[in-house]
Amino acid sequence: MGKIIIANWKENPIKLKEAEKLATDIKQKSADFSEKEVIICPPFVYLSSLKEILADSGIKLGAQNIFAEMQGAYTGEISVGMLQDFDCNYAIIGHSERRKYFRETNEEINQKVKLAMKEKVTPILCVGEDQIEKENDQTMQVLESQLTSALNEITEKMVINSGLIVAYEPVWAIGTGNNADPEVVLSVNIFIKKLLIKLYNRAVLKKVNIVYGGSVTSKTASVYMEESGVNGLLVGGVSLKSNEFIKIIESI
Ligand code: PGA
Repeated sequence: MGKIIIANWKENPIKLKEAEKLATDIKQKSADFSEKEVIICPPFVYLSSLKEILADSGIKLGAQNIFAEMQGAYTGEISVGMLQDFDCNYAIIGHSERRKYFRETNEEINQKVKLAMKEKVTPILCVGEDQIEKENDQTMQVLESQLTSALNEITEKMVINSGLIVAYEPVWAIGTGNNADPEVVLSVNIFIKKLLIKLYNRAVLKKVNIVYGGSVTSKTASVYMEESGVNGLLVGGVSLKSNEFIKIIESI
């Protein structure tokens, strides 16, 4: 499996021009990292413009969220079906900021994962414990419950065909500069793999990618790849600085 680097721009940048510049700067280096899978997840309103900029660059586009229903009277929501026209074939689902600020539940996340898989959009499913859960030694328990419910009624075939990406993102590590210990990420990686074997079988492991996210920088990126056995990284804050983001891609 190739190495995956996902940029989550969140609610940034504020201006289209800045978004275009960021994408253009990253694209200029794309020939150097053609064997790696780089996925940029910008705000929805920039997808159209970024599709043009990134055409033929090999850099892929992803959404930061989708709605759990395909279509209808859901004011303000974006359908997974709308993404394909923008060559946007990935979607972050269940990010901790959505769980926290928009009160997304495991049930809704499960609906979204199912819908994405049905529509051939690869889910980037985010799971992770918060600070209190970490202090109470509940990390594995939380991960098991989040993953089991997110994958409820999802078959082995759906998982394999979708190329599911599971992102381990401890909530306390996101945007804090307090990145997780690579050894802990290694044990989480093994735990997730064991859980996938329990829920499905060993064959799914060949198709599921596990990535780490939470205060990744150009200094720590390669450590996770080498010591935690993950297939890739999900980068938030630092993905907004083209130089640093390119360094991350080059370093792994
Ligand atoms: P961060 O964000 O790299 O700024 O910690 C990661 C994420 O939220 O995906």
